[in-house]
Amino acid sequence: MAILKVARLGHPVLRAATQPLTRSQIRSSDVQRLIDDMIETMHEYEGVGLAAPQVHVPLRVAVVEVPAAPQEGREALPLTIMLNPVVTLLSDERVLGWEGCLSLPDLRGLVPRAPQVRLSALDRQARPFSIEAQGFAARVVQHECDHLDGIVYIDRMNDLKTLSFIAEFDRFVGPEAGPVDE
Ligand code: NI
Repeated sequence: MAILKVARLGHPVLRAATQPLTRSQIRSSDVQRLIDDMIETMHEYEGVGLAAPQVHVPLRVAVVEVPAAPQEGREALPLTIMLNPVVTLLSDERVLGWEGCLSLPDLRGLVPRAPQVRLSALDRQARPFSIEAQGFAARVVQHECDHLDGIVYIDRMNDLKTLSFIAEFDRFVGPEAGPVDE
């Protein structure tokens, strides 16, 4: 296992096309190691999600893990490995919530997202699965799957005036802000 270097905004890999994986690729030691390293990297930086382009790999791989935060009304999403994920928005509604990203360090912004999604993907044994996610977990799934299409959260913001550095966010927004995505 290894902690991987995270690409920051401006690196072309964050905007490049990503390749879907074949079942035999998924079972390869290279991809299995990539998954383990992405989980370790996400934990090291205390993120709740990480997509392969963020570690300089243009493959359709992402990992998410959201700890429960009952005081913020936030349900847990257990560690989920998503290969070739497809996200279906289950609502026409869009809810504003604060997001951050390991590839845009020290920033936060308000992003509109669907509050409920269905995620269909392959797991690390190349078995198909489908789950529904709501609220913050749905936000994290949308954020990570966007990375696989070269999209970062600031592309989704409808008002860049909310973009804030974390120190200023904590000072001027913090207590009412609710959960933050990485
Ligand atoms: Ni991100």
